[in-house]
Amino acid sequence: MGADYILLLFASSLWLILPAYFANSSPVYFTSKLKKLHPIDFNRKFIDGRPILGRGKTFEGAFFGIITGTVVGTIQTLLQERFASIAALLYPMSVKLGFILSLSAILGDIAGSFIKRRAGMERGAKSPLLDSLDFLIPSLIVARVFVGVGFEVCIFLLVITPVIHRAMNVLAYRLGMKDVPW
Ligand code: CTP
Ligand code: MG
Repeated sequence: MGADYILLLFASSLWLILPAYFANSSPVYFTSKLKKLHPIDFNRKFIDGRPILGRGKTFEGAFFGIITGTVVGTIQTLLQERFASIAALLYPMSVKLGFILSLSAILGDIAGSFIKRRAGMERGAKSPLLDSLDFLIPSLIVARVFVGVGFEVCIFLLVITPVIHRAMNVLAYRLGMKDVPW
């Protein structure tokens, strides 16, 4: 397992998952600029008396997340056509793949919040693994089905995503874009 293998694994993994990363991380920036937000659970409670999803999951956030991820996938698709020799080493991105990766990331994130609420955690509570893997796992399943992404890529992403997630949140916090470093 040489350095070139690691580098290619790193590059192809990130290339593939980029739309999902953007879909997951963009809602917070868009929703912070909006006055009126519409929670996906319509502020309703589950049978345990706690919010079904909580106020951190809104239609606006989901919509912007899917749009942002799909735009990123579209830019990747164009870059790939422009730099075909490099692109030949990577998984082929397409507008459609960008869209379904983004959609699955957003749906996974919603499912993650459902689990957090059932576990009694407040909206925004720290849950490092759940927060970084809830969006990733559905996207990886989609990637395996649609482009047959390798097992080693899935393992690699499952390991590095919590690390990247943490680093990005600390960065956003230091830059004053987030109130908490997670
Ligand atoms: N967000 C949104 N709609 C979504 C996803 C995210 O409006 N579908 C916004 C919310 O303002 C949310 C922020 O992005 O607070 C950060 O997202 P996330 O960390 O997923 O939500 P949390 O507030 O941490 O809530 P939870 O505990 O349910 O994960
Ligand atoms: Mg959170």
